Order: sequence, then structure tokens, then C-alpha cells
Amino acid sequence: MASLLLTIFAILFPLFLASHGSTATISVQDLPTLSFEEGYIQLFGDTNLKLLGGGRTVHISLVERTGAGFASQDLFLHGFFSASIKLPSHYAAGVVVTFYMTNGDMFEKTHDELDFEFLGNVRGREWRVQTNVYGNGSTGVSREERYNFWFDPTDDFHHYSILWSHDRIIFYIDEVPIREVVRSQTMGADFPSKPMSLYATIWDGSSWATSGGRYKVKYKYAPYIAKFANLSLQGCIVNPSNHSSPCDDSDHNLFNTMTLSSDQRLMMLSTSGGTVPGEKADIAGGIRFELNCVSHILVHVQGTFDKTIACR
Ligand SMILES: *[C@@H]1O[C@H](CO)[C@@H](O)[C@H](O)[C@H]1NC(C)=O
Ligand SMILES: *[C@@H]1O[C@H](CO)[C@@H](O)[C@H](O)[C@H]1NC(C)=O
Ligand SMILES: *[C@@H]1O[C@H](CO)[C@@H](O)[C@H](O)[C@H]1NC(C)=O
Repeated sequence: MASLLLTIFAILFPLFLASHGSTATISVQDLPTLSFEEGYIQLFGDTNLKLLGGGRTVHISLVERTGAGFASQDLFLHGFFSASIKLPSHYAAGVVVTFYMTNGDMFEKTHDELDFEFLGNVRGREWRVQTNVYGNGSTGVSREERYNFWFDPTDDFHHYSILWSHDRIIFYIDEVPIREVVRSQTMGADFPSKPMSLYATIWDGSSWATSGGRYKVKYKYAPYIAKFANLSLQGCIVNPSNHSSPCDDSDHNLFNTMTLSSDQRLMMLSTSGGTVPGEKADIAGGIRFELNCVSHILVHVQGTFDKTIACR
């Protein structure tokens, strides 16, 4: 655990240093990454999972016969989970790419889950991304939310991250928080609180993914390849047999102090465009302007430098 602690300090230390200046310098780009062998196992799809660059890049593909997927070797209770992902280009209706955490294999009826789901596209229209939060088998906390991208996710790799701490969940695209769920007293077990593993998959979601299933996967365009890189697991590993966690309190405290700055919260509001779950407003334009001032802020340690993040 010393190494986890060190890692976290390594992430946060530049943040503290930089907090005396006018901008914070922390970013997902500074996170340590793992090779596939170090942190993951293949779940399905045999030859549809390919390792490149010494296992630093993973390609999973969908063909008519099968999709593919992989998972973290370890179970985690809280942490920061991240990958750079490039989605399949061309016509990809019905193709679902996921990056998520769940414990559904251990708790069939009372599982927890935190999802990024990428829901295909029809040529000429943009991919959409959906986030889901399940706690103890229920979506009582908050339902799925869908967003448009403010860039073309098939053009290049972008970072997708999930922060899951004792009292909050934040989904990030690059350094932009797109959704935050803060634990409240009334949530109880609806807030995900059991150990989860991390998963990444690609599969055929013809029946529902794109425009409610109107557009199906067209295998004449296969293989559809989703590319993953910069795999990062900054979490508290728990023992799979008894769920005991060797992480000491200070680790927990560090994760638990990660929260959003007021600028980030403002930006998140401007990405969500409304309070109604479901369809989200277009986030082009204004957000890009905001991005310039916060593009290097990943996490904010509560109370430490509220006044020193100079945005404008
Ligand atoms: C991985 O992260 C590094 C640092 O941010 C970045 O330079 C590189 O482009 C990323 N790799 C991919 C494939 O996105
Ligand atoms: C989780 O859900 C199950 C089944 O609905 C319920 O019996 C259990 O009490 C819940 N757990 C907690 C901690 O609330
Ligand atoms: C959990 O299991 C591991 C080994 O499997 C053991 O070392 C540890 O002491 C156990 N923890 C508890 C709280 O039972």
C-alpha cells in the first residue's frame, strides 16, 4: 500500500505545488499507466483482443461472430479509473463500446455499477455517450444520462475517467467532469459501496443502442475496432475472498478529498445543459471556451486552493 500512497502523493503533490501559482498543473496525463499483463485479463472474444506496443495499447473488435472484452485482475473499493479510448470510425450504428465498473458477477440482484457506454453512430451523425449509476441493484440514485461529444471521438484518443470515492462519483471526459453523484444520507445502499472490477467491452447492441434500435450493426463494415491505451487503475485493491481491504485510512481520505472546483462545477453545469435526465443539450461552443482555463485541473482537494485556481 505504500506504493499506492506514493502514487497518490505523486499525483497530488504537483497540485499542491502549483496551487501557489495561478494555475494547477495536475492532469490525467500524469497518471501512471499499466500494461495489459500488469492489470487486466481477457474476458471473451479470443482473437478479437489484440495487444500492441508491449501491451500498452489494446484493440478489441466486433465481427459478426463475436465482440470482445477485458477486465481488471483486481477488485477495487474506490479509486480513480481511466483509459484513453478511440472509438471505431465509419458507420458504427448498433455498436456498443463500454468502459465501466461492476460487481454483477458477485451480486446478481444487488449489484453496483458505474458505466460509460458509447452508443454507436450513423454515418454523418455523432456518437453519443451514456453514463449509468446503479447501487445495490437499483438505479434509485440516478438514472442513465446521455450526452453529445464536443469533439469527434473516432478521430483520436481521449481520456475517460471514473472517480469513485466514499462519498462521490465523478465521470470525466478528458479533464471535463460531465457528471457528479454526491452521496447523501437518504441514498443508503443506493450509492455504490461494494467492491467492483473494471471492464471494457465491444458488442452488438443492434436492438437498442442507436436511435432506440432503428439502426443495426452492418457487418459489411466490420471489424469495428475500439482502441484502449493509457490504462490506469488508481484504486484500493480488496481481497476477493473476504472483501477485506488493506488500504489504510489515509488512502481513503485522499480519494475522499477529491472533489470538483467551483470552475469545474460550473463547467459541468454548462455541459449538462439542463436538469432533466435523458437527452442532454449540445455542448459545443461555450464549453470550449471554458476548457481553456481548466484543461489541466483533474482533481481538486477540498479547501486547499479555492482561491488560487485562476481561470480567467
Ligand atoms: C497516453 O497519454 C499520453 C500522455 O497524456 C499521451 O501523450 C498519449 O497520446 C496517450 N496515448 C494515447 C494513445 O492516447
Ligand atoms: C440491498 O438490496 C437488498 C435487496 O433489495 C436488500 O435486502 C438489502 O437490505 C439492501 N442493502 C442495503 C445495505 O440496504
Ligand atoms: C482476508 O483474506 C486474506 C487472505 O486470503 C487474509 O490475509 C486476511 O487476513 C483476511 N482478512 C480478514 C479481515 O479476514
